[in-house]
Amino acid sequence: MFKVADEESGFSRRTLVRNSLFGALIAFPLPGITLLRSLAPQDIDPVEVLKHTMWEKGIRLARDNGGHKIGEPIRAADVTIGSVFHVVPENLGTAKDLINEKAKAIVLLIRLDEKDLKERPERKDWSYNGIVAYSKVCTHVGCPVALNEQHTHHLLCPCHQSQFDVADEAKVIFGPAKRPLPQLPITVDADGYLIARSDFTEPVGPSYWERLK
Ligand code: FES
Repeated sequence: MFKVADEESGFSRRTLVRNSLFGALIAFPLPGITLLRSLAPQDIDPVEVLKHTMWEKGIRLARDNGGHKIGEPIRAADVTIGSVFHVVPENLGTAKDLINEKAKAIVLLIRLDEKDLKERPERKDWSYNGIVAYSKVCTHVGCPVALNEQHTHHLLCPCHQSQFDVADEAKVIFGPAKRPLPQLPITVDADGYLIARSDFTEPVGPSYWERLK
């Protein structure tokens, strides 16, 4: 199946930004399926569990240094075109259950040339100077989306080969995922640090809860 998916997508024939793969796999051996499943026991509404994260208005975006380590907050000026950061909320250290909160809140921060971004008018202020932030938790069954192909702006989930278009609201362009990666609305504060405008506006992670409706 992987071979067929690879041939149809043409992904491996093109040059990958491998540092984002290695960065992802080294820095974030979390989350996904087991953690996210455990977040939603049967007597609790999974939508409620997955739609609230530690992001809120004014929280700075900080580097994910792996495990429990939270790195420095990120200035917009330090994000060059084509770069990818693995990001957590700066206040993650205050979480009672850090690992599960991280599993929900982890984000990929990517900067594109602004002219390559396709944004609906109502989402124009969700990005900053071509910098966009998307949930790193695949909407199929929750693996970390890890591969960024810089020249096509495609993100690949290594578990079942879903691909998402970073330039077009992280819509699914291939594979079993059924919905885009949720986007975190961002801007900058007075000191030039990237901050969240709000929490995600939809649940992160797997969409199995849709089948429960
Ligand atoms: S978990 Fe990402 S494609 Fe299946």
